[in-house]
Amino acid sequence: MAVRILLTGVSGQVGDALLPRLQPMGKVVAPLRSELDLSDAEAVRRFVREVAPRWIVNPGAYTAVDKAENEPDLAYAINRDAVRVMGEEAAAIGAAVISFSTDYVFPGDGVQPWVETDATGPLGVYGASKLAGEQALAASGAAHIVFRTSWVYGATGNNFLKTILRFAREKEEMKIVADQHGAPTWSEDLAQLTIHTMKRMEEAASGRALPDAVREVGGVYHACDAGETTWFGFASEFVRLAQLKEPEQRFARLLPIPSSEYSTPAKRPLNSRLSCEKLRLKLGFTMPNWEASVAQVMQRLG
Ligand SMILES: NC(=O)c1ccc[n+]([C@@H]2O[C@H](COP(=O)([O-])OP(=O)(O)OC[C@H]3O[C@@H](n4cnc5c(N)ncnc54)[C@H](OP(=O)(O)O)[C@@H]3O)[C@@H](O)[C@H]2O)c1
Repeated sequence: MAVRILLTGVSGQVGDALLPRLQPMGKVVAPLRSELDLSDAEAVRRFVREVAPRWIVNPGAYTAVDKAENEPDLAYAINRDAVRVMGEEAAAIGAAVISFSTDYVFPGDGVQPWVETDATGPLGVYGASKLAGEQALAASGAAHIVFRTSWVYGATGNNFLKTILRFAREKEEMKIVADQHGAPTWSEDLAQLTIHTMKRMEEAASGRALPDAVREVGGVYHACDAGETTWFGFASEFVRLAQLKEPEQRFARLLPIPSSEYSTPAKRPLNSRLSCEKLRLKLGFTMPNWEASVAQVMQRLG
């Protein structure tokens, strides 16, 4: 019988990248929001029971960082409660869970890359709700892995890269924040990491239960593309590549500004650097350099 995989968030950046990569691995059940509302914990429970998956892969999340400040109940329902229920049900049936979290669990002080054991301290509701999800999953008793990532973008969906490119074609000048440091992470790189991890766990599980293999390496991993930059550096790089592709097109001049000049309802961490050393050592995966990934996305954008 084919392995059943429950994938949430299939209309999102990471879910969209995961779907075609998961399909060769088993029977993928990937409900849209209209088929499974993640803010309804009991519906999540029923759905998991019905599907009885071997794997739950959960990129589904409430990701509206600023809106979350005014919708904490909804953010917690999706980012904590749904994850808790997935964990409880996975623990009950011997499934394994891969979920995703964020650099926004950290307060953003200092300049060193955060390691997994560093104290957290989210600055806003979104980060706090994602941290609560990590903790709820750990407490559920499920065999699980959480990938904390940063600044996710892709060739599909709405994201920073596509928004800036659109405006850069229309405007003379654009001000971009230049004092938040981190790594843009391509959704395809996260999908590759996820598949690598699942295959590695399946190999490690041969002859024994999957949760036992996952528990040996389970927990939180930092997983962002390699290298670091700022939002200004990220935007400058892909506008540069766009200009190379379209020499005739006029793109906006980018101006670096401090976060203090760009006020948002939710405060962002200034230091979002994540050390991915644990990922390399324990899961044997090195994330690609962010510039190499941006170059690939720019090619795909046609
Ligand atoms: N985006 C980033 O910059 C970033 C940074 C760090 C970490 N992360 C984490 O990485 C993971 C993947 O992020 P992403 O960029 O792929 O997110 P995304 O593009 O915003 O996608 C979120 C997905 O969750 C679904 N969803 C939201 N509310 C739902 C609900 N009530 N019921 C059912 N589905 C619902 C969305 O469905 P709809 O299409 O119907 O809304 C969408 O498919 C998340 O855990 C996120 O927290 C993201």
